[in-house]
Amino acid sequence: MQMRFLGHACVEVCGSKRILIDPYLTGNPAAAAAPGELAPDYILVTHGHGDHLGDAVEIAKRTGAQVITMVELGRWFDGQGIDALGMNIGGSYIFADGFRVKVMPAWHSSQLPDGSPCGLAVGFVFWLDGMCFYHAGDTGLFGDMKAVIAPHGIDVAFLPIGDFYTMGPDDALIAAEWLGARKYVPIHYNTFPLLQQDPQAFKAALEERTDAECVVLAPGEAAEL
Ligand code: NI
Ligand code: MN
Repeated sequence: MQMRFLGHACVEVCGSKRILIDPYLTGNPAAAAAPGELAPDYILVTHGHGDHLGDAVEIAKRTGAQVITMVELGRWFDGQGIDALGMNIGGSYIFADGFRVKVMPAWHSSQLPDGSPCGLAVGFVFWLDGMCFYHAGDTGLFGDMKAVIAPHGIDVAFLPIGDFYTMGPDDALIAAEWLGARKYVPIHYNTFPLLQQDPQAFKAALEERTDAECVVLAPGEAAEL
């Protein structure tokens, strides 16, 4: 099994299935793939901001991938001709092939591409080939990471560290202490001037404060799991 960082908050986890999260590639200065190169089975969309929704419609239409998102944003996908699975916080679903996903809270806003408000932003816990993943989406630090997310027994957590719109490195370190995951991958930094961070400093601090490993991936880089 492999995880690949495609830039900003876009991550691909490839095992028996290909899971693509927040496929913002077109217009992403850090994009490490073109939408046409990807062939996911599932596309998880944490919220409607353009730097997360991204190319989800185009990729889903071309590949037939199942889109999973919040119910309000799911209705918008339906209007684009895509039969999205619109879920809500705390809900989980197991597909016939065994892929399981659960919707987690996030402290963030959401909107549609036309600027109108659209429900809540979320994160996802998902299970693939016996491993448990957490993609936090865009969020500030919140205490329920400890109470509601950590009990799933996270193997790999993708956490924003860019600050300004999300947690910065200091709050992401607290999140890591609460989540108790085995591995962390920092995301949502250095894409834009406002999000400048030093991922190696974050890695050093995280590995000093926890027993976990911090895997820093440059856009396009992959790591075995
Ligand atoms: Ni956002
Ligand atoms: Mn964002």
